Amino acid sequence: MNPTSPRIGIVTVSDRASRGEYEDRGGPAIREYLDEVLACPFAVESQIVPDERERVEDALRSLCDRSACCLVITTGGTGPAPRDVTPEATEAVCGKMMPGFGERMREVSFQKVPTAILSRQTAGIRGRSLVINLPGQPRAIRECLDGVFAAIPYCIDLIGGPFLTTREDRIVAFRPRK
Ligand code: MTE
Repeated sequence: MNPTSPRIGIVTVSDRASRGEYEDRGGPAIREYLDEVLACPFAVESQIVPDERERVEDALRSLCDRSACCLVITTGGTGPAPRDVTPEATEAVCGKMMPGFGERMREVSFQKVPTAILSRQTAGIRGRSLVINLPGQPRAIRECLDGVFAAIPYCIDLIGGPFLTTREDRIVAFRPRK
């Protein structure tokens, strides 16, 4: 892998997956989605952490700051249960929130399942990284990312990240003309 390839972080937030009691299906599903939609080379760094705010924050800081990921996608921990803390961890590490991502993902998800409104998924900017939360249900990954992916490359342009290109038969990245 080219060391200058854009780097993308994937964080699976799950008590059971982090203890090895449950196979992580979300992380590989995100990887598969990225392989399908991105046309540029990219490198992935994945982590699996329990539903503990400190651990989620540490993973996000490490992927954004140490690994210089331009995009970090989390899966899981967005719901109302007591241990669901991914949105709180995201807000704690991001300097700027991007609420449009969560709004749009809930909107497209609601066309599929009425429980879409139970996800508090959000997104934010930490330095030159865009952090996006997805629900833990593997099926939700494609549903949510299809709803917002066209806006991701331009968002990354605006924060000084690498120029991401997409496979246009899947997703056309929208970059407004200046
Ligand atoms: N969004 C989509 N697209 N598909 C789904 O199946 N599940 C919902 C919601 N969003 C779902 C979805 C459910 S049942 C819950 S509880 C919340 O996401 C939170 O899930 P999480 O705690 O695993 O992040």
